[in-house]
Amino acid sequence: MSEKIRVLLNEEEVCKKIREIGEQISKDYEGKTVHLICVLKGGVFFTCELAKRITVPVTMDFMSVSSYGDETSSSGVVRIVKDLDESLEGKDVLIVEDIIDSGRTLSHLLEILKQRNPNSLRLCTLLDKPERRVKDVKVDYVCFNIPDEFVVGYGLDYAQKYRNLPYIGVVELS
Ligand code: IMP
Ligand code: MG
Repeated sequence: MSEKIRVLLNEEEVCKKIREIGEQISKDYEGKTVHLICVLKGGVFFTCELAKRITVPVTMDFMSVSSYGDETSSSGVVRIVKDLDESLEGKDVLIVEDIIDSGRTLSHLLEILKQRNPNSLRLCTLLDKPERRVKDVKVDYVCFNIPDEFVVGYGLDYAQKYRNLPYIGVVELS
């Protein structure tokens, strides 16, 4: 089977929106330092672009989680593959994700991170598929709501490929 990628959101649209969300975050965190948590691997491109658009002081840490499940759906039981290097105690934490689908992974991750006593804990995602939501999660910043289609690019993969595309595309199998 071969796959084709149809552009859903082009590079310009994505960059423009990230700039706007960065400005919003800068306003909301005025006088504070925002501690970005990049959820690897998918969140890495978005985290870098977003961090560059935030004008308040930024610190960053990285975490890798794996959700037990099959290729296309997560179970919500999250295993920490790589934990954060630093404590969250008293920090204004903003989790940066690539996409929220069922919400299972994030809802579990939020529970884990809440227990580490951050001063505040918010969530920012590049993409959201609200139609697919199974677990209710409060998402504070969303760049784009997208339809229920499998997307790649900007960190998102299909069998580990296409993360490096500078746009968001839909995978079409033929
Ligand atoms: P959730 O627990 O169902 O919300 O799973 C979210 C995770 O599933 C994301 O962090 C992605 O790793 C993966 N995922 C969900 N939808 C897509 C997609 O359209 N393309 C690539 N990965 C996806
Ligand atoms: Mg992810």
